[in-house]
Amino acid sequence: MRSSPSSGVPMASTMGIMTAISRLHMRGRRGSLLTCPHKFDTCLQSIGTDVAAEVQAPGKDEAEAKNGRKSLHTVHKEGQEQADRSVLISCQGRTTDKKFLKYLSRHGDVQKYFYYESFGTYAVVEFASQESVASLLEEAAVPSFVHEAVLPFKSRLLSLKSLSVSDLQSPQSRQRSQTQTSMPINELVQRLSREETIDRQMTALTEACQLTEENVRLRFLVCSLLKDIANVFFSECAIRPFGSSVNGFGKLGCDLDMFLDLNGINGHNAKTPKSGFSLEYQMKQSSSERLVTQSILSVIGTCVDQFVPGCVGVQKILKARCPLVGFTHQPSGLQCDLTTNNGVAMKSTELLYLYGELDPRVRCLVFTVRSWARTLNITSSIPGAWISNFSLTIMVLFFLQRRSPPIIPTLDQLRDLAGPGDECTVEGHDCTFVSDWSKIPPQSNTETLEQLLGEFFDFYATFSFSTMSINIRKGKEQHKPETSPLYIQNPFETSLNVSKNVNVTLLQRFVTLCQESSWLLQQSKTNGPIGGTKGSSPAPWGLASLLLPSQVARMKARKKRRSETTGARVKSLIESLNSKNQPNKSSS
Ligand code: GTP
Ligand code: MG
Repeated sequence: MRSSPSSGVPMASTMGIMTAISRLHMRGRRGSLLTCPHKFDTCLQSIGTDVAAEVQAPGKDEAEAKNGRKSLHTVHKEGQEQADRSVLISCQGRTTDKKFLKYLSRHGDVQKYFYYESFGTYAVVEFASQESVASLLEEAAVPSFVHEAVLPFKSRLLSLKSLSVSDLQSPQSRQRSQTQTSMPINELVQRLSREETIDRQMTALTEACQLTEENVRLRFLVCSLLKDIANVFFSECAIRPFGSSVNGFGKLGCDLDMFLDLNGINGHNAKTPKSGFSLEYQMKQSSSERLVTQSILSVIGTCVDQFVPGCVGVQKILKARCPLVGFTHQPSGLQCDLTTNNGVAMKSTELLYLYGELDPRVRCLVFTVRSWARTLNITSSIPGAWISNFSLTIMVLFFLQRRSPPIIPTLDQLRDLAGPGDECTVEGHDCTFVSDWSKIPPQSNTETLEQLLGEFFDFYATFSFSTMSINIRKGKEQHKPETSPLYIQNPFETSLNVSKNVNVTLLQRFVTLCQESSWLLQQSKTNGPIGGTKGSSPAPWGLASLLLPSQVARMKARKKRRSETTGARVKSLIESLNSKNQPNKSSS
C-alpha cells in the first residue's frame, strides 16, 4: 500500500538482529541457494528507521486514550510487537506448567503463554523481550535424521523434547488448551435456545463465534513467522493480517488474509541534496506493477513451500485479479492467503473495523447474518456463485445506514469528517475517511437487535435487486450501472461490483430465505422460549430456529400442507355449494 498514512507499523528492533542471525546461518549452510541480499549493518540501520516511525504516532494514541477505543493501527502495532517476541512450541510430551515455565524463564521473563490443540498440543509463548527469544533460539538444536537432510532455515517454530520421564505428567497439572475452532452448530443452537430474548441470543452468538484474544495473537504470530522468511529478500517488509482476522467480524476458523507490505522499501525516498553527490540504488525494472507483484509472490511462495516448517499445500494463484499465494499453516490450523500490493483491501479492513466499533449492534447483526447465511448455504468457503462474507457485511452496513434515524454514517460522511492527515489515495482511488472517531456525531437510533434482525430480513426480502445497487458510500440505493443480479459497489474502487460472482438462482434463494426467516422470527416472537423439561434441552426458538436448515424446510412443508389443506377445503366448499344449488333431480 503506497500512501496509507496509518500503515507504518514498526518492525521491532532486535528482530532485525535475529533475522540477520538466521540469514547468516542460512548463508553458512547454503549460501548459493539463498544469499543474503543485505549486509548485517543494513539490518541495524533499518531498526533505527522503525524506532523513529514508532515515535511518530503519539497524537493518535492520545486520541485513543481519550475515547477508550483502539484504532486498527494500534491493534496492528501491538499485535506485531507481541508476535515478534513470541515463539510457537509443539509440546508432544505432557509437561507441567511449572517445569515448562521454569525452563523457559532461564531465557527471560515470560509475558504470556497459552496452549491450544491442532493435531497435537502447541504453546504460544510471549517473552518480555526479543533478547529472550534470541537466547532461546541460540540453545535450540538442529535435528538430524538418518536418511533425510534438513533444509537449513531456522524459524521460531520449535519442538519441546523431554529427556526425563519425571517431566511428563498428567494434563490436569497444565493450563487448559484453548479451542481454536467454532462451536458445532447443534451445540450453538442448544446454547442459544436457553436464552430468554432474541437480543440475548444475538449477543451470545457473537460471543461464541468471535475470535478469541488468543486466536488473534496466534494469527499475528503466523504473520511474524512468515515475515522472517520474507525479510531474507526484503529487509524492510512487514506482513500484516487483514480481512476478518482483524476487522472485528472474524469467526473462529476463518482464513488468515495477509498482506506483504513493501512500503518501507518503495516509500524510501532520501532527500536529494541541492549540490554535491548523491546516491541512488540500482534496481531492476519491470513493465508493470502487476508483474512485480507476481514475481514477488512467486519467490515468496517458493520459499514458503521449500523452507518454512509447518506450511503445506502451497498454491500460487498469480493470474487472479488480486494475485495471491495460498497455503495451510499446519501448526495453527489456519488457511492462509498471502497478497501484496493490495492496499485497497487494507483500507476496506480499516473501514469495516471502524463501523464495527461505532455501535455494538453492528457486530452482533453482522455475526448473526453471517452465521444464518452460512448454515443456509448462502455463503461458502468454496469459491463459486455464493455471496461472500465481505459482500454480506456490506449489505448489513447498508441496511444500518438506511434505518431512520441511521445507525452508522455513510462513507461520504466519514470522508467529509477527515482531517488533513487522513488524506489517502491508494492506486488512484480515494480512500480518505476520518481517523479521529470523536468527530463522528453520536446517533440516536434505539432499535433493539431483535427489531433490526427482523427489519433486515424484510428490507432485503423486498429490495429492488433488479434495478438498484447497494452503495455504502452514498448510503442510498443507486441505479445499477450493469446487469449483474446483485450489484454491491466496491466502497473504494467505485467502478467495481464486489458481488459480480452471484447468480440469479442464489440471489432468489437469498430473497426467499429472507422472507421465510422474517416469518419464522415473527412466529418465534409470538411463541417465545419453550423451556425444556428437567434434563432435556429447551426446544430451538427465535434465532436458534433460524440456524436450523431443517426448521426452514419444515416450515416450508407446513406452509405447503396448509395451502394444500386450504385448497382442499375451498374445493369441497365449492363442491358442496354447487351441489346445494343444483336442482334436485329426484324432485324435478
Ligand atoms: P472471511 O470469509 O471470514 O474470510 O471474510 P473476509 O472479510 O476476510 O473476506 P475475504 O477473506 O474474502 O477477503 C479479505 C478481505 O479482502 C476483505 O475483508 C476485504 O477487505 C477484501 N475483499 C474481499 N473481497 C473483495 C472484493 O471483491 N473487492 C474488494 N475490493 N475487496 C475485497
Ligand atoms: Mg478472510
